[in-house]
Amino acid sequence: MSMAPPVGTHVEPLVLRQVLGHVPTAVTVVTAATESGPAGLVVGSFVSVSLTPPLVGIFVDERSTSWPSMSGAGSFTVNVLAHDQRELCARFAHSGGAKFAGLSWWESPHGNPVLPGTTAWLDCVVQQIQRLGDHYFAVGEVVGLGMGDAVPPMVFHRGALRTVGL
Ligand SMILES: Cc1cc2nc3c(=O)[nH]c(=O)nc-3n(C[C@H](O)[C@H](O)[C@H](O)COP(=O)(O)O)c2cc1C
Repeated sequence: MSMAPPVGTHVEPLVLRQVLGHVPTAVTVVTAATESGPAGLVVGSFVSVSLTPPLVGIFVDERSTSWPSMSGAGSFTVNVLAHDQRELCARFAHSGGAKFAGLSWWESPHGNPVLPGTTAWLDCVVQQIQRLGDHYFAVGEVVGLGMGDAVPPMVFHRGALRTVGL
């Protein structure tokens, strides 16, 4: 275990990223039905916020090219990727391109793409979007949800996609 730095030490972004990489996260594809069609991106910063009311949150980088149109859609769906969905992860972790080309999905009650074969999905109505540092924190009220039949999730840990629960 490394020694703690003195209080007040400047935190380098790359060091922060490296330390945070030790915290395993889920891997989700957040989708929305925008005016120009379906959109989505990989989001690891998916958090449970509240049970009553049912709230979840995501943090989106200010550099996201999909988010400006997605944030105006009023709702989004969180698709929690299963351990065997690496191709989907790679597809949605890139900016631009036809991310939905050749992909099959069904529409959530709010018209957002729900991807098949996932561990779980949550359809959310946007409650608030707040700017925090270089990210946006979007809070959504869960209005629809489902889960796979005990499908193990994909996990991101120390720079690699991993599997738990097998
Ligand atoms: C495992 C993993 C987790 C990620 N988590 C986030 C995240 O929480 N927020 C975010 O904005 N981008 C995250 N990204 C990066 C975006 O998916 C990536 O920048 C993507 O190209 C954005 O697409 P866009 O420009 O179409 O919005 C993550 C990528 C990976 C591979």
